[in-house]
Amino acid sequence: MKLSSQSRAFVPRALQPAARSVYHGLFRLQLRARCWYADHSGAADVTGLPLPPALLRYRVSELLGRDEFLNIGEGCARLIEEHLGSMGVDLARTRRVLDFGCGCGRTLRWFLRECPDVEFHGADVDEEAIEWCRANLKSARFLRNDPLPPLPYPDLHFDVIYCLSVFTHLDEDMQDSWLAELSRLLAPGGVLLLTVHGDRAADALDPDGRATLQTSGFVHRRSRKLKGMVPDWYQTTWHSREYIERRLATWFDDIRYEALPGGMQAIVLARQKEF
Ligand SMILES: C[S@@+](CC[C@H](N)C(=O)[O-])C[C@H]1O[C@@H](n2cnc3c(N)ncnc32)[C@H](O)[C@@H]1O
Repeated sequence: MKLSSQSRAFVPRALQPAARSVYHGLFRLQLRARCWYADHSGAADVTGLPLPPALLRYRVSELLGRDEFLNIGEGCARLIEEHLGSMGVDLARTRRVLDFGCGCGRTLRWFLRECPDVEFHGADVDEEAIEWCRANLKSARFLRNDPLPPLPYPDLHFDVIYCLSVFTHLDEDMQDSWLAELSRLLAPGGVLLLTVHGDRAADALDPDGRATLQTSGFVHRRSRKLKGMVPDWYQTTWHSREYIERRLATWFDDIRYEALPGGMQAIVLARQKEF
């Protein structure tokens, strides 16, 4: 969250850091109040599973509404099934699946009833979200991981790994470390699915950012929106299609990139190399 340029014009430069702190303090205060209200009002859960508290919902989406949380999660689950299907994978017939960067289980919760024979795992750096998942989404297994690999699973452990809106936040070194780690964890022929920002999302960049995206295919920018709520290294990342296809080819085969309607997001699929 930024002080608007109009507000900045009225605040002397020396006082701007203090004004920014006050502004962020007030923002967090009003957010707490809205979270309290959202936790004490609204529709009942329709999935038969408890809903995470509003602050955990906000951390994965910057939205507070229960219906939005459920609708987006269900939409993501359907997208995953459909795209895995295009790679010849029927999720319900896999053995073991990892939701990497699962947050408070917005997507995973939809698979638990639909795929009772699959062993689902979720991992995230967000301790509070993982504790909530452990206590409430009991048929899956969860762990809190460090910002950098490794994860404590054996090699070739998963048939499918999906990561929604995770690589949209990592810098290039972290991204590469995690791609190598996820490739270690995927069984031969297993499928990785991840999301990145699509072409239209680059409209949010300034001219310098757009130029860098065109030349190098990768831009990682600081964003103050979730300051104080997520770790400092967690910022915003844009990839070009060409960059993603080239980078993933280091670890994976059969890479597919599909822009989602509206162009703000894209889904990337890749298959573990056969040994
Ligand atoms: C925008 S949220 C999306 C959460 C979830 N995938 C969903 O769609 O609801 C991004 C998530 O990635 C997690 N994350 C970011 N970097 C991570 C890392 N290095 N290891 C594990 N999780 C990470 C964050 O904590 C956060 O829960």
